[in-house]
Amino acid sequence: MLKVVVLVSGGGTNLQAILDAVDSGAITNTEIVGVISNNKNAYALQRAEEKGIPNVCVSPKAFASRAEFNQALLDTVDQFQADLLVLAGFLVVIPEMMIEAYRNRIINIHPSLIPSFCGKGFYGLKVHDAVLARGVKVTGATVHFVDAGTDTGPIILQKAVKVKDGDTSKELQRRVMEKAEWKILPEAINLIANDKITVTDGIVSLK
Ligand code: GRF
Repeated sequence: MLKVVVLVSGGGTNLQAILDAVDSGAITNTEIVGVISNNKNAYALQRAEEKGIPNVCVSPKAFASRAEFNQALLDTVDQFQADLLVLAGFLVVIPEMMIEAYRNRIINIHPSLIPSFCGKGFYGLKVHDAVLARGVKVTGATVHFVDAGTDTGPIILQKAVKVKDGDTSKELQRRVMEKAEWKILPEAINLIANDKITVTDGIVSLK
């Protein structure tokens, strides 16, 4: 049984997609053992509470330094004794020591087709603003392993989404979430939970 902790910062629609997939059997061999947010007002915490999943806020505002927050975040994660950490709209930079402690056991959902529209400053609506500004006709989402870089780890799954004439950033974000994020994040967790993934020289392949 894969024990998973989900880290969130906002509305938690990706968390909800994961919870629904566990309930429906689309994700097997998996238990969501905890939800952690840096934002006490994140509706994602409410979603966890409604499912009876232990949930906690670790806010940078509660600590005198970033180093103390980083240690508190790692200590909180460690308490759950998770096999996999899932960043689902988590807007905090993962500290190096946490990446070390959970090497190849952290995955992230990014709302573009990496390596396009990713890296520092590309998060939330900013991604879709850039997509529309460039005029690309296809965008999408990517699930990848987290390494020391920003959106640079081995790519696990991607799903393309058409950009429609006249799209606003919000309309495009919603379509990317509905058609891509909410599908490939649960699928990636299920693949990992059932040992269907190997990584060789930074390239993910399915068994
Ligand atoms: C959204 O911008 C989504 O594209 C990205 O994280 C943000 C919040 O998602 N992955 P969620 O509703 O909190 O899952």
